[in-house]
Amino acid sequence: MIAVKHLGKRYGEVIAIDDVSFTVDKGEVLAFLGPNGAGKTTTMRILTCFMPATSGTALISGYDIFEDPMEIKRRIGYLPETPPLYPEMTVTEYLSFVAKIKGLSKSDQTTGLALSLEKTGLGDVSNRLIGNLSKGYRQRVGLAQALIHNPDVLILDEPTVGLDPRQIIEIRELIKGLAGEHTIILSTHILPEATAVSQKVVIINRGRIVAVDSQEQLSSHVRKSEKIALRLRRGGAETPQKLNAIEGVLRVTPQSVSGDSESSYLVESNLGEDIREQLSKTVVESGWGLLEMKPLVLSLEEVFLQLTTEEQGVAEATPENKTQLAQ
Ligand SMILES: Nc1ncnc2c1ncn2[C@@H]1O[C@H](COP(=O)(O)OP(=O)(O)OP(=O)(O)O)[C@@H](O)[C@H]1O
Ligand SMILES: [Mg+2]
Repeated sequence: MIAVKHLGKRYGEVIAIDDVSFTVDKGEVLAFLGPNGAGKTTTMRILTCFMPATSGTALISGYDIFEDPMEIKRRIGYLPETPPLYPEMTVTEYLSFVAKIKGLSKSDQTTGLALSLEKTGLGDVSNRLIGNLSKGYRQRVGLAQALIHNPDVLILDEPTVGLDPRQIIEIRELIKGLAGEHTIILSTHILPEATAVSQKVVIINRGRIVAVDSQEQLSSHVRKSEKIALRLRRGGAETPQKLNAIEGVLRVTPQSVSGDSESSYLVESNLGEDIREQLSKTVVESGWGLLEMKPLVLSLEEVFLQLTTEEQGVAEATPENKTQLAQ
């Protein structure tokens, strides 16, 4: 549906994005995740044909951004970082105005208005002035203007920025409801947002893609071994040695536990090797009393920090910037 191929953009000396490539399947939601200045808006502006790329290209529904910008604009709805809303217009007046300037026929204007009001849940406030709406509702109007021509693709630049937690959830739900019928790319610097709404995550940092994958695969991308947390009722002195003898086990590290009757271990094995069956067999046969066996997966936040800090060897993941990135 969308194929981005080696996109590059320079502003004079500044390289805003460099060799950006990824694909999005029909009906999928892709989260474009990166810190400030990573190149998210630049990429989105190129895809919506608001700005030309310096190198590379992109195909949307088979149309090329350089060769067929008109066809592309017809198929894309764009919610910019700051939606161009007119506070002195009512919701209906504004959406009708957008439908007209997008060149829709009279009947398409009418159906487009009804459909976009319905999809964004704006029916009840359609006659209110935009300037009097809450920020969350104004963002819905931004989404409605992107939807007015019923585009196949929606490009949403930080759609939940500046909203309160309840409004964030509402907008995310709305976006999830639009997936399937529409193919969606949304940008965010909020890590939980990427997992909450998307099937696929592209992490961009300083203009370059550092990872493209599902959350699970992203975490295997940066981990060096498989890790299993093991909790036993009656582990003994011989336990680490016996666990270590299991084929594929690299390391067994005893963990501190609060209760004195239980014991806990971190068991590491080769990447891609599943030792759970053998591990549970050993535990049961030894009569240690299996309480818990849990594969440890890096959270997206940990993956993101590793990918965006490791490459340049910049800023270690301190508790402060970790919280900052999570917000
Ligand atoms: N018009 C411009 N002229 C010069 N440099 C620019 C221009 N627009 C963007 N840049 C630079 O390009 C880089 C990417 O910017 P971009 O706005 O695409 O990032 P972003 O990921 O959207 O960031 P944010 O999260 O802050 O919105 C930044 O280094 C930015 O300073
Ligand atoms: Mg931006």
